[in-house]
Amino acid sequence: MQRVGLVGWRGMVGSVLMDRMLQENDFEHFEPVFFSTSNAGGAAPTFAKSDGVLHDGNSIDALKTCDIIVSCQGGDYTTQVFESLRAAGWAGYWIDAASTLRMADDAIIVLDPVNRNVIQDGLQRGVKNYIGGNCTVSLMMMALDGLFKADAIEWMTSMTYQAASGGGAANMRELISQMGILNAEVADLLADPRSSILEIDRKIAAKMREPDYPAEHFGVPLAGGLIPWIDKDLGNGQTKEEWKGAAETNKILGKTAGAAGFINVEGLCVRIGAMRCHSQALTIKLKKDIPLDEIHDMLAQANDWVKVVPNNKEASVRDLTPTAVTGTMTVPVGRLRKMAMGGEYLSAFTVGDQLLWGAAEPLRRMLRIIIG
Ligand code: HSE
Repeated sequence: MQRVGLVGWRGMVGSVLMDRMLQENDFEHFEPVFFSTSNAGGAAPTFAKSDGVLHDGNSIDALKTCDIIVSCQGGDYTTQVFESLRAAGWAGYWIDAASTLRMADDAIIVLDPVNRNVIQDGLQRGVKNYIGGNCTVSLMMMALDGLFKADAIEWMTSMTYQAASGGGAANMRELISQMGILNAEVADLLADPRSSILEIDRKIAAKMREPDYPAEHFGVPLAGGLIPWIDKDLGNGQTKEEWKGAAETNKILGKTAGAAGFINVEGLCVRIGAMRCHSQALTIKLKKDIPLDEIHDMLAQANDWVKVVPNNKEASVRDLTPTAVTGTMTVPVGRLRKMAMGGEYLSAFTVGDQLLWGAAEPLRRMLRIIIG
């Protein structure tokens, strides 16, 4: 059995990954080696059969004993150990969720329902680095898989509504803390049905603007509002999160920048007060006018997880929300409509769990592809 090193299995993405691996009996197919960067020598988790010990995640010698390493430890860890591991002659498969190696020429971004052909080609060419994509990009591609497979998209824009979890576990906590503080601020007024809504609103706004309002992780208040900026400033008016739209979409499809067939993906990324589901409003310029019923069929048949939601109020508010989707593998796409600009312009809305298809799931599936 192949030895699979697991690093960062205790964190938020790592825990979701372990849950999915248990659900799918993945541990039956390899020998897990649990690593820790802070508790080497401690006891390994008992949910899977292992040698019982936590190995040192900072030890190149220990990591080198693995055939495959799956890391959810984050980009800093990848930066810290990956080059040293390769320099030490390690030729195993590296699978991780961080953006560090994503755009490297010798790495493939994995989203196998969409790009199994690119992955297969990479395996045949001897590529050893398989990296999970940006959550927003992966979720958009799961939703629009049918249109990508049909090569029907000329360009698109994605206006996002991204959940707190994208910032990390501490951000989710901060969001809920902010909600609680706001509620507490006006609890007495809320309890009185005759109190003034404008008085409640004034107190909420004043609370949010207090200098000691807890916003350490987001930097500014989120609950009751939104933040129209995610990730670094690229200095050209675009955020790094927005840049990833085109860069990663095309890399996932095996297309290089400037090459024929490159699909422009533009957008504006916004943080909202959802817990772990990213949503996106999409404007898609099709290469030709395809009837809406054909688009429905293409989308619905593309993979086992996408679900086309009829464009009516009842279905949309029931099935196309973070509340409906959170914790599930389903990626609904709906609000499908031809826009006033013409039959080639398609409007769509999609929602997906940022920790499942957006992070953990592509990793465990890649592991299973390698193990066979
Ligand atoms: N960058 C994403 C976000 C999450 O902040 O929502 C990671 O893909």
